[in-house]
Amino acid sequence: MSGAEDIDRRRWFALCSREDLPATHIFETDLLGQELAVWRGPGGIVNVWVNRCPHRGIRLTVGAIMGAELRCAYHGYRYTNGSGACSAVPAQPGRAAPRSLCVKSYPVLEAGGLIWTRLADPEPAAGPPLDGTGDFTPLYGLAVKSRPAEVAIHLAGYRFRPSAALAAPETADESCSTVQIDAYGFQSVARKGRLTSEVYLFLQPVDAQTTNIHGVLCEVPDGQRLEAALRHHAQLFGRLRDACERGVRDRAP
Ligand code: FES
Repeated sequence: MSGAEDIDRRRWFALCSREDLPATHIFETDLLGQELAVWRGPGGIVNVWVNRCPHRGIRLTVGAIMGAELRCAYHGYRYTNGSGACSAVPAQPGRAAPRSLCVKSYPVLEAGGLIWTRLADPEPAAGPPLDGTGDFTPLYGLAVKSRPAEVAIHLAGYRFRPSAALAAPETADESCSTVQIDAYGFQSVARKGRLTSEVYLFLQPVDAQTTNIHGVLCEVPDGQRLEAALRHHAQLFGRLRDACERGVRDRAP
């Protein structure tokens, strides 16, 4: 896997968490070098669109969500939640919008509290390893200036503590094991006595030099435990990013 061009564009990739899509917000991200605009419309529909207006190419992420439509910031063309079809051209009031004008959109899945997409057909037999109904807590995602294969080496050594044990000092009876489930996914289980926590970690190849890490805790701690768990994993992600980027710098000619 030497770069984004080698990666199977048909597979499902995590892009962001459901918390990244509050009402009226257009989330911007890249997948395999493709700029994307991600937003949630009425009915809970999540749109993953090419981040370019089909009229003159302005980024849709600088537009605005108006009810069930996204309005481009330049000439105000509106594109419909779900289909991406142009629904209105302000300069031509009373006339039907041209049918040919439609934002390119990609398939969407919500699973494990994350938003997933794929850039090419046919749909692979294997979907995300999490379903859409369990108790999941998305962790804070993080960008790493490194390629997925390099980040994966560091994620294979991911070690964390059970959420319910974070308030107490670490003890010798704690353990954690991480297994790679595919080229872009890991499952990690931490134990302390009868306390257990499980996380899934996923890689988003942003471009040839950048990888986003997404994480999901397979439980919903309440109150301070939730804050502690989010902080714990954010610290571990930060250390992992620093180690990974340090390795890239050290190998640079
Ligand atoms: S560039 Fe978007 S409406 Fe013209």
